[in-house]
Amino acid sequence: MVEADRMRVSVIGTGYLGATTAACLAELGFEVLGLDVDEAKIEMLRSGRVPFFEPGLAPLVASGLESGRLRFTTSFAEAAEFADLHLICVGTPQKDESGAADLSYVNSAVDRLAPHLTRPSVVVGRSTVPVGTAATLAARLAALAPAGAEAELGWSPEFLREGFGVEDTLRPNRIVLGTDSPRVEKAVRALWHRQVDEGIPFLVTDLQTAELVKVAANAFLATKISFINAMAEVSEVAGADVIQLAEALSFDDRIGGKFLGPGLGFGGGCLPKDIRAFMARADELGVEPALSFLREVDAINQRRRARTIDIARQLIGGGFAGSRVAVLGAAFKPNSDDIRDSPALDVAATIASLGAQVTVYDPAALERAREAHPELNYADSMRGAVADADVVLLLTEWAEFREADPEELGGLVARRRIVDGRNALDPTFWRASGWTYRALGRQ
Ligand code: UDX
Repeated sequence: MVEADRMRVSVIGTGYLGATTAACLAELGFEVLGLDVDEAKIEMLRSGRVPFFEPGLAPLVASGLESGRLRFTTSFAEAAEFADLHLICVGTPQKDESGAADLSYVNSAVDRLAPHLTRPSVVVGRSTVPVGTAATLAARLAALAPAGAEAELGWSPEFLREGFGVEDTLRPNRIVLGTDSPRVEKAVRALWHRQVDEGIPFLVTDLQTAELVKVAANAFLATKISFINAMAEVSEVAGADVIQLAEALSFDDRIGGKFLGPGLGFGGGCLPKDIRAFMARADELGVEPALSFLREVDAINQRRRARTIDIARQLIGGGFAGSRVAVLGAAFKPNSDDIRDSPALDVAATIASLGAQVTVYDPAALERAREAHPELNYADSMRGAVADADVVLLLTEWAEFREADPEELGGLVARRRIVDGRNALDPTFWRASGWTYRALGRQ
């Protein structure tokens, strides 16, 4: 074990980002203390249970706990005493209608940690924040810490995708660090020395650029999805097929095929709120027109939900009142139980509000969906959800739905009608079993 591996790290915030970061660092050999203000979450993690669905994470938490390299606490004093490097991994949700980011958790992490920093320490933010936040926090940290200017702050955004969090943490496609402090750079290089040795790019920038890299990346991804969804809108009325269009575009390696999947659009805890916070920040900085295209990106994305509902309405031949609608999927994407800004649940709830009896099934997100939308019906299997349905809507492309047998499901529904909101099924195959198949952007 090299010296760097003896570095002690605290990870503040144990949500998707923090819990994954903490467990991966323990796996890499570091001594890690995860901290959260939520006692219940810490109790769960201490007993080896992960409070959310993230493939591959539970075994890492278990082995970290067993080796003693991974521990959890609710005490900032303990974290300050224990660690040389503190990683801030708390959430920055959307604040209100303005779309701006709520920085209260980030501010509070610094405010509560700083008074305990009596020796030189490095604090590095991983959360997604509006550009300019880190510089403010660095000053706040130095002012509040007994160590003064020896308590230094850098910013190193994460790019992990839910469902691939472990993989994206252990093998990121790049590491970005905003700092002008040699001590901060040394600590963060020590953290990722294996990854750097493997050739993963390590970019050192100023604080502002590091903050911007993250929101720019998410804005680009959201734009790419909305671009192909705009093409889907045009394709539908022009008599074209957006799936063939996307495939043809993807062979141009300047465009590429990733994030060019047309359908119900993006949701989740990152892309929607990050583009809104980015626009709000641009407005504050006086460069609102530079990002006004993101308003269109958001609008295209919302229109996909409305269009899906329209297609379902057409299929049942008029109003929803009294109809039975099966919704397959509640999570914002497959391999996740996250329902934050889930397009699937949004569509399900809207259809229910229009008078339909909506029954939802999802392989992982049922519990969360039930809590957020008690007005919907829930089934504990795909078969249960589609029983007697007048129309089936596939809204999250779990493998279980992609691989569904149209004959078998056909025997359960009242009418063989399906809206494929994720372009996940083979239309020819489904039509051959007598289904009326409709999708976004196709004839
Ligand atoms: C995203 C970024 O990918 C990640 O780098 C960042 O750190 C956090 O935000 P995540 O929210 O986990 O990650 O989801 P992602 O896999 O990016 O998917 C976002 C949404 O876009 C999902 O709702 C997905 O269904 C949708 N999507 C994705 C499409 O509609 N079409 C596509 O082609 C790709």
